[in-house]
Amino acid sequence: MRLPGSLWRNIHGRGVPSRYLANTAVQRPCHVAVLGEEYPTDHMTNISPTIVSKLPLKLHTQPSHPLSTLRALIESHFPSYAHLSSLSPLVTPYQNFDLLSFPADHPGRSVTDSYYVNKDLMLRTHTSAHEVEVFGRGETKWLLTADVYRRDEIDGSHYPVFHQTEGARIVSANPAGMKEIEEDNERLAAHLERSSIEIEDVPHLSPMNPCQPAHDPKHTELIAKNLKLSLNSLMLHLFAGRAGATAQNPLKVRWIEATFPWTTPSFEVEVFFRGKWLEILGCGVIYQPTLDNANVSNKLGWAFGLGLERIAMVLYSIPDIRLFWSQDPRFLSQFKQGEITTFKPYSKYPACFKDVSFWLPGGQTLHENDFCDLVRDVAGDVVEDVKLIDNFTHPKTNRKSLCYRINYRSMDRSLSNDEANSLNAQVVSCLRDRFRVEIR
Ligand code: DAH
Repeated sequence: MRLPGSLWRNIHGRGVPSRYLANTAVQRPCHVAVLGEEYPTDHMTNISPTIVSKLPLKLHTQPSHPLSTLRALIESHFPSYAHLSSLSPLVTPYQNFDLLSFPADHPGRSVTDSYYVNKDLMLRTHTSAHEVEVFGRGETKWLLTADVYRRDEIDGSHYPVFHQTEGARIVSANPAGMKEIEEDNERLAAHLERSSIEIEDVPHLSPMNPCQPAHDPKHTELIAKNLKLSLNSLMLHLFAGRAGATAQNPLKVRWIEATFPWTTPSFEVEVFFRGKWLEILGCGVIYQPTLDNANVSNKLGWAFGLGLERIAMVLYSIPDIRLFWSQDPRFLSQFKQGEITTFKPYSKYPACFKDVSFWLPGGQTLHENDFCDLVRDVAGDVVEDVKLIDNFTHPKTNRKSLCYRINYRSMDRSLSNDEANSLNAQVVSCLRDRFRVEIR
C-alpha cells in the first residue's frame, strides 16, 4: 500500500508525457476566489472547487483532531523551538521550487502534479516551501505544520490535501556554533543510550551523499550527527510507547540515503511498527544556497519534513484517509486533544461500483489526476477509489479508449444505487463538457 503524502513523489517525480488533454473545452472564468481574495486566472489555472473549499479548514489546528494532537506531540518534543502553524498555503512557484534549487524541468512543477491559481501563484506542495522565508525572519530553531496540496489518484491512502511538519535548526558556522552542537549531541546520545532503540545507520557522508563544497566536512559530520540524534529521539517519543518497545524488543529505526534538491547529505527515516517498515520522513543538511537565499550565509544546519496523516493513520488505526475530513460526530467525538486512542469504526457501508468508459479525441490522452479531480468535484468524499481497468488504443484510428471503475461509498451513511447512478451521470456529463470525450 502506498501511504498518504508519499513525500518523495514530487521530488523524484514521474515522467509527464506530452499531449495531455487540456481542460479547454469549457470556458474558464477570468477570476477565481481563494481565501476571500480574487485572483486572475490563466492557462495554468487548475485549482478546483473541492480544493478551494479545503483551504480554510486547517485540521492541524482544530482542537481534539488527531492531526492536531500529533502536531502538538511533535512540538512537545522540541520545546525550545518556535512553533508555527498559520502560514498561508498560497506561495509562488519561486518559493516552492526555485529557492530550493529544484531544476527548471522538475516534473513536480507540472500542472498535472500541482495546483495553480495562475502561473505566478500555487498551493504549496510541501512545507519546505517556507524554509527560506522562516530562516529569513531570523528563526534558527523552528517547526512549521501546515496543509499541503498535490494532485493525485484516489484511494484509501491518497488525498489531494495532507499535512506536514517541517523542522529545522541552524547554528553559526564557527567554534561557538559547533560547541553548541557537540554539547547537544552528548546529551541526546546519553538519552538514546538509556532507551530501547535499535538504529540501522548509514555513514553521514558517502559518494552518493557528499559534503557540500561550502562546508568543512568536520562541521557536516557534527550537524548530520545532531540531525540523526534529534530525529531518533523524536521517533522514540512518537512510537516507542505505542509499539510496546522493551529492552528485549527495542524500537527499530533505519536510515537510508536519499536525494533532495535543497539538502546534502540527505536521508530518509523508516520505523518498524506493527510488522511493517513505515516511511516517516525526509531530511538532510541544508544546501548552503538555500541559506544564502535567506541571507543567513554565516550559518549551517539541518531540516526535515514529515507527513502527519501516514503517522496518524497507524497510531490511531484510522483505515481511510478521508476520515480526517469527516464532520461526523461519530468520528470527531472519539478523540480528545493530547490523547492517542484507537479509532473504533462505527460502520462500513456498502460499496457501489460504477464504470465510466469513453473514447478520447484523436491522438490525445487524459492524465489520471485530471480525471480524479473531476470525480472529486462531483462526488466529494463519497468517492473511495478510482481505478483504470481498461486502456485500449485502436490499431487503425490510433484513438484511445479508457475505462475507469469508480467506487462510491460514503463513510457516514448507506448510499442508494440511485444516488450513485446520479453521481455517475454527472461525472459522465462533466467529462463530455470538459474534455470532449465520447462515451462508449
Ligand atoms: N519536503 C519534502 C517532501 O515533501 C520532505 C523533506 C525532505 C523536507 C528533506 C526537508 C528535507 O526539510 O530536508 O517530500
